[in-house]
Amino acid sequence: MDHDHIISAKQLSRGDIETVLDHAAEAAADPAAWADRHENALLGLCFFEPSTRTKMSFTAAIKRMGGDVVDMGTVESSSVTKGESLADTVRVVQGYADALVLRHPSEGSAKMASEYVDVPLINGGDGAGQHPTQTLLDLYTIRENAGFDDLTIGIMGDLKYGRTVHSLAHALTTVDARQHFISPESLKLPRSVRYDLHEEGASIREHTDLGAVLPELDVLYVTRIQRERFPDENEYRAVAGQYQIDAATLEAGPDDLTVMHPLPRVDEIAHDIDDTDYARYFQQAHNGVPVRMALLDLLLGESR
Ligand code: NCD
Repeated sequence: MDHDHIISAKQLSRGDIETVLDHAAEAAADPAAWADRHENALLGLCFFEPSTRTKMSFTAAIKRMGGDVVDMGTVESSSVTKGESLADTVRVVQGYADALVLRHPSEGSAKMASEYVDVPLINGGDGAGQHPTQTLLDLYTIRENAGFDDLTIGIMGDLKYGRTVHSLAHALTTVDARQHFISPESLKLPRSVRYDLHEEGASIREHTDLGAVLPELDVLYVTRIQRERFPDENEYRAVAGQYQIDAATLEAGPDDLTVMHPLPRVDEIAHDIDDTDYARYFQQAHNGVPVRMALLDLLLGESR
């Protein structure tokens, strides 16, 4: 894998994807063998938006390899409140760390920030744009449970603002999956994403009703309505609570269906699914550690 920065799932070739996932499988199989791989390595965390999984699993990943984090902390406690620009913040933090993870509410921010730094910069989510490391752990989970051969996936929920969806759709195109997008009319894929997917030769269909496609699916990937990205709270209320599934919904699907969710969930997946064989979302979140270990190892390679 030959990338200076990880900004978008669009930059990942099939070979890159297989390299990271194979490497992650090695980390998962024998984590002890990785324990001092990046002793003294420091990962800079610049999170301008809330995070549980992305931040904690990156932290776990670097610590599991003998390294540590330097964390900007919350926006409120940082110099951002004094008016510092993102370009200045990352230029400073790169001097404290061997790689950076950036999460920011503005789409395009990771690309812009990467132009100011010499250490690897990883996009941990840029507004409604991209979330490529989530995509890699999603792919790891899909490969583990359903495989990439002849894969049919349904992606349901907030397709307009969901960056995990925008990222995953590109990667699924790269692995030649059939993609069904299920959402209310008002939360369909943005035109620009649909256009890019068509240009890449994606196999996509859009629906407003899950029932129409559920029996064909190997994987159902459910997402949260991204409340924080709605310009108008009334618009959010108009769609909130739609597109929920429970164990009864899934009776119409295949027995070996894999249900995924990037988390956090609000009410999209009823708790009666949690203890069924369909549910893979907690496993999916746990896969974030070996996948991020693998990615960091590949990016930090020379310090090994
Ligand atoms: C997602 C995100 O931040 O985009 N969370 C995550 O990283 N697992 C999904 C979400 O917030 O809905």
